[in-house]
Amino acid sequence: VILGASESGKSWFAKRLVDRLSAAKPVLVWDPQAEWAGPDADAGIRGARCFAGVAELCASLRAGPPAPGARLVVQSARRGDFAALCRLAYTAGNLAFVVDEAHQVLKADRCPREAEELMQVSRHRRVDLVLIAQRPTGIGPDFRDNKAECILFRMPGEASLQWVRAEFGKSVEERLRAMPARAWIRLT
Ligand SMILES: Nc1ncnc2c1ncn2[C@@H]1O[C@H](COP(=O)(O)OP(=O)(O)O)[C@@H](O)[C@H]1O
Ligand SMILES: [Mg+2]
Repeated sequence: VILGASESGKSWFAKRLVDRLSAAKPVLVWDPQAEWAGPDADAGIRGARCFAGVAELCASLRAGPPAPGARLVVQSARRGDFAALCRLAYTAGNLAFVVDEAHQVLKADRCPREAEELMQVSRHRRVDLVLIAQRPTGIGPDFRDNKAECILFRMPGEASLQWVRAEFGKSVEERLRAMPARAWIRLT
């Protein structure tokens, strides 16, 4: 889980993380702002193929399975596409699934059933989830609390800082309060 204010450097961090991932697994990216690859990319990832929706991605997969380390970027903000992508990740298994702007699609009270189902079986299905959100409370507790690792960027807002304190202690909260943009703390 990668958390931080808008413009704090979360997506940049996650893009470089994906660039370093081994070619052992394909990577699916939910990219609602079309910034991970393609004409509007901002420091985009290497070796990506962009799709305007899950129908386009599935059409391409019907022609043959992706290469092991393929980077498949879905550039859509439609909720139906997100649900379909969760279902695809669930069915395929053995991949990494990056959800940028997760607060838009994984809110506690408004997240697709397919996302909950994926979360429940992700370890079993060997799906590595990378969830990127502006605030800890922006994503439902099922998604926030099952993390193996947390990257914290600058995060103003007392509710967020109190969550950090409850989760990781006072010293982490104090470091976070003093942190500039683009700096981050990694917690395992
Ligand atoms: N470590 C970095 N080095 C260089 N540029 C960076 C770095 N981190 C972020 N940026 C740039 O700063 C801007 C905001 O970063 P971004 O990752 O998009 O923020 P966020 O996803 O948190 O809103 C982007 O233009 C991005 O390319
Ligand atoms: Mg971002």
